[in-house]
Amino acid sequence: MTDNNASATRDADRVVIFDTTLRDGEQSPGASMTFEEKLEVADILDELGVDIIEAGFPIASQGDFESVFEIAKRVKNATIAGLARAAAKDIDRCAEALRHARNARIHTFISTSPVHMKYKLQMEPEKVLEMIASSVSRARNHVADVEWSAEDGTRTEHDFLCRCVETAINAGATTINIPDTVGYSTPQEYEALFRMVRERVPNADKAIFSVHCHDDLGLAVANSLAGVRGGARQIECTINGIGERAGNAALEEVVMATRTRPDALPFRTNIDAELLTRASKLVSAVTSFPVQYNKAIVGRNAFAHESGIHQDGMLKNAHTYEIMTPESVGVSKTSLVMGKHSGRHAFKEKLKELGYELGENALEDAFKRFKDLADRKKLVYDEDIVALVDDEIVTANDHIKVAALTVIAGTAGPQTAALTLDIDGEKKTHQATGNGPVDAIFNAIKALAPHEAALELFQVHAVTQGTDAQAEVSVRLSEDGKSVTGRGADPDTLVASARAYVAALNRLMVKRAKTKPEAMKAG
Ligand code: KIV
Ligand code: ZN
Repeated sequence: MTDNNASATRDADRVVIFDTTLRDGEQSPGASMTFEEKLEVADILDELGVDIIEAGFPIASQGDFESVFEIAKRVKNATIAGLARAAAKDIDRCAEALRHARNARIHTFISTSPVHMKYKLQMEPEKVLEMIASSVSRARNHVADVEWSAEDGTRTEHDFLCRCVETAINAGATTINIPDTVGYSTPQEYEALFRMVRERVPNADKAIFSVHCHDDLGLAVANSLAGVRGGARQIECTINGIGERAGNAALEEVVMATRTRPDALPFRTNIDAELLTRASKLVSAVTSFPVQYNKAIVGRNAFAHESGIHQDGMLKNAHTYEIMTPESVGVSKTSLVMGKHSGRHAFKEKLKELGYELGENALEDAFKRFKDLADRKKLVYDEDIVALVDDEIVTANDHIKVAALTVIAGTAGPQTAALTLDIDGEKKTHQATGNGPVDAIFNAIKALAPHEAALELFQVHAVTQGTDAQAEVSVRLSEDGKSVTGRGADPDTLVASARAYVAALNRLMVKRAKTKPEAMKAG
């Protein structure tokens, strides 16, 4: 078994991990996160040891500006990057959002391929070169750490790409990113591209080169690693590989590939791999993007051995079918944790072990819910506690809460829901019917808290196995082009559904309030 083997690598082989879950990841349709969720993700990325967190695109919206601003203020270790087009107003806004970062990076980009320059930018190549020089030097006037990206770099004509890179470095860029924006490249081609640019550009030694790969052909991770073999020393990636279209290179995959195969990939990152599973679960929960079961590293089946032959081999020696241990990526053997007799102290210890440190009030609320769960569910697993606590953290400050729910379901119909909501401390009850029990619940919510939002997604999955497993429900609502996601967990799928819908509604209210100009408190 070849686990981390950092000592075998040299410093020149240190690869910087630039996480763009909160920017490119959040850009993927339906993956939008609330302000609080973005902070939660930023916290775990920092704990994970990523070198750079791309926190957002400050000019894109007020919400993006505010979250970059807040993340820059609170993150302790990682450099915080903001994205900016090659325009003065973008760059200045980005610098403003990064004002309080301990280490700030402005990431500015412009398209360089013939098709992008002609149709998207409608600009001549010479104008693009001018804009590279002016945008990078404007960014350098704000911060010392400037990244420049050649959007659609892999479809850019080589001579022109070299001129662009040279111009960006002359203007002060310290990192040069050559993205495979449309996921078109192949590993051999991408490796050769970095070798070519580094050889031909006279000032190439003054910058770190970076890979940024999209997964349209399923090659994002392979291409990223090939780019590193070609001399790049920064990988741009996202947790669970979320991102535009088919997504970006998955952080957990590039990290574990280098850790597991230092003989073939002698590169070192600073990532604490034992936090990968937790980070994956958090990102999946806040985006409501389920992780595919067979996903490398963090999929539910990534360490499951089902066939008799494999199980037999595993029992004889784990090396027969396991190239890395589940523990090395933070998967604890599904463990029976506690039951209804477990006390507050044991619960607190368990939370610590799972990576949570809650304040006294949140701990008390979570403990009550745990006791309630332990009364109703025979076996309480780590996963149950994680679902319960995540639910608790995300909904702690909500204005609307589910207070009580009774549902009549079955073949006779009409399915009926009697629901009590606590709205800013006042209890309100309504009874509604619907086309099935979930529809009846959602109708009752609409009657108690009227709104025009459309239901975009309703998704249920079981947290653990067995018929008494907790259901985790995700609901996505959209209003005026804005989407929000809420989730709820409970052994009763209908209660979880009500909680998820109400959670989404709370997020929507926050979003509405934030789009009013007076909500801007960045200055
Ligand atoms: O895919 C891409 O080209 C990008 C750039 C903005 C870096 O995301
Ligand atoms: Zn991208």
